[in-house]
Amino acid sequence: MKIALGADHGGFALKEIIKSHLEKKGFEILDKGTYSTESVDYPTYGKAVAKSILEKEADFGILICGTGIGISISANRFKGIRAALCSNTTMAKLTREHNDANILALGARMTGDILALEIVDEFLRTKFEGGRHSTRIEAIEL
Ligand code: RB5
Repeated sequence: MKIALGADHGGFALKEIIKSHLEKKGFEILDKGTYSTESVDYPTYGKAVAKSILEKEADFGILICGTGIGISISANRFKGIRAALCSNTTMAKLTREHNDANILALGARMTGDILALEIVDEFLRTKFEGGRHSTRIEAIEL
């Protein structure tokens, strides 16, 4: 499975931790940046990961900024993107089961590294339930 990663300077360190965690588990990683702690603008990375999902370059995306808010707002401007900001594993499980979220957003300044990795694992292992949830997802699109 291929995972696209993106982060601003606030999420850079956590992105590197997630990258190495997922590589060890055998995931293929598409790193869309940023590549240092130098100050950058989060929409650049929200857009890059959203496009990589829509163009089927990757199966899922993970986006990280300081809060996870700005970068998830950016990604969610794209039709077909469902980026879910999760701060615990239950949210990660339910957003996959019910919302078929295709991007996980994390706030590096809000969520500790160990919990963030647990959230990532839960998100990537959980399947969409379909059924009544499919109708609701279709209704999201304008
Ligand atoms: C950058 O300082 C910070 O604004 C950004 O990482 C994020 O939290 C925005 O939502």
